[in-house]
Amino acid sequence: MMLSLPKKVTIIEVGPRDGLQNEKLLVPTDIKKQFISNLRSAGLQEMELTSFVSPKWVPQMGDAAEIAADCLDEKTRNIVLAPNRRGIDRIYSTNCKAVAVFVGVSNSFNFKNINKSTRDSLAELKPIIHELKQKNYFVRACISTAFYCPYEGKISESDTLALCHEFVQTGVDELSVADTIGMASPNESFSLFSQLKSRFNEILITAHFHDTRKLALANILAALQAGIDRFDTSAGGLGGCPFAPGAAGNAATEDVVFMLERMGIATGVDLNKLMTAIEVVIPYLSRKIETGYYRLHAQTV
Ligand code: HMG
Ligand code: MG
Repeated sequence: MMLSLPKKVTIIEVGPRDGLQNEKLLVPTDIKKQFISNLRSAGLQEMELTSFVSPKWVPQMGDAAEIAADCLDEKTRNIVLAPNRRGIDRIYSTNCKAVAVFVGVSNSFNFKNINKSTRDSLAELKPIIHELKQKNYFVRACISTAFYCPYEGKISESDTLALCHEFVQTGVDELSVADTIGMASPNESFSLFSQLKSRFNEILITAHFHDTRKLALANILAALQAGIDRFDTSAGGLGGCPFAPGAAGNAATEDVVFMLERMGIATGVDLNKLMTAIEVVIPYLSRKIETGYYRLHAQTV
């Protein structure tokens, strides 16, 4: 008997955005640009580059306009985030054509993250999404606290599905559904992603796991079996939301690529070049990242 698995998956690299947003010390803008360029050279064709949020809330993203001005590339889906009208207006003055909006299923988390209730965020975002679609933008909706909230605990699957349904009705191209604090278990991953796949098969569904409790790979394997073939990951396992206490980094791109390629699932990512990209930012990070063993074994994948 064999696992039922796809032949290839798409990795959406979120390192330049989710990966860096939680870093306390400002990473120089030129280093971010080099990081993005090297990630592309490693084969990553969809990437979150930055976010147009308030620099008072997330100082690390204060150089969003400069990143957007210099880092767009024809062959890559260059995604930039915005939480509100002000962010969208800032994006309109760039050449970005792919936008991610974000909202939490949990009201308490949404207040901490965006200073609004989930309902008020949705009310603000709905006309914005219609407008973006009329202007031919690719629109991704990031759904935070889809499994657990750092303030409210377990989130019911039906609440997450209901919020996803509202976004699908607005005409988004993609849902990126997140285990923000890395609490989900593989059975919860399988259950929610099976439901999402069967209800919203007409749009792209992506899984976004944080690896707080080292369950991200197990959750990815469970989501794969639910039919998911798109995963948000972050080079070096960087990441975390400043307003989600206890959240560690995202599933590490190198771990996910290594696992999938070993399973015979193509990712299009060159592990050695990925390591080169990570090494560009390592000197500027507050956390320690180990790349040595992937360097050793990259040739044997
Ligand atoms: P607020 O203080 O309620 O905003 O914050 P406001 O509308 O009252 O405006 C206050 C000031 O911010 C004003 O400036 C605005 O112009 C400015 P002032 O008059 O004081 O000089 N402002 C902005 N500036 C630049 N860009 C903007 C913007 N909006 C207002 N877009 C706000 C509300 C949404 C702005 C704030 O809460 C915020 O920026 N939040 C972002 C938080 C964030 O970035 N979180 C991380 C990303 S989400 C995530 O990581 C989860 C995800 O990975 C999935 C998962 O893992 O769960 C996607
Ligand atoms: Mg995240």
